[in-house]
Amino acid sequence: MTKSNIALIGFMGTGKTVIGAKLAQTLDKEFIELDELIVNKAGKSIPQIFAEEGEIQFREYEMEVCREVSQQENVVIACGGGIVLNKLNIDYLKQNAIIICLKTSPEIIFQRISKDGKEKRPLLNKADPKAEIRKLLQFRAPFYNAATEYQIDTSKLTVDEVVERIREIYESAQA
Ligand code: S3P
Repeated sequence: MTKSNIALIGFMGTGKTVIGAKLAQTLDKEFIELDELIVNKAGKSIPQIFAEEGEIQFREYEMEVCREVSQQENVVIACGGGIVLNKLNIDYLKQNAIIICLKTSPEIIFQRISKDGKEKRPLLNKADPKAEIRKLLQFRAPFYNAATEYQIDTSKLTVDEVVERIREIYESAQA
């Protein structure tokens, strides 16, 4: 069965948003960011959700928007880094999407997070965000590996190169 969606998963700071937006444009699909849908649903920012309602409630919102978006067609979905923690999310996404995982080094992740401001990512808003990145990456690696066979290391590639690789994967999976 052909799948008309592409879901990008991977740790925070691996480029899902930038690459997803470009990919959607290239493939003439709609770009959807799950974090944005969560913010709309909750009526507050992600740091506010974590602070006022807690991570468990955040994961509930995440599961709801993931289920909803999985029913759409012709969309590129950029998922939050923790999407893989709940296997149901991956099952929903797989209904209509090819899932692709973006990877990069902890150093690059740290640089990008620092540039955005660590308060944007409540999970890394810690005294030692570098150590937290390493810890979370190690814990989550098996979840990312289990969710997909398609992994792209974006460390040494341009956005256009990554988009091209994803397009190839997507097209060969349709054949
Ligand atoms: C999270 C990643 C964030 C956001 C939330 C939790 C995570 O998304 O969903 O802060 O658990 O890794 P990005 O991966 O887009 O930063």
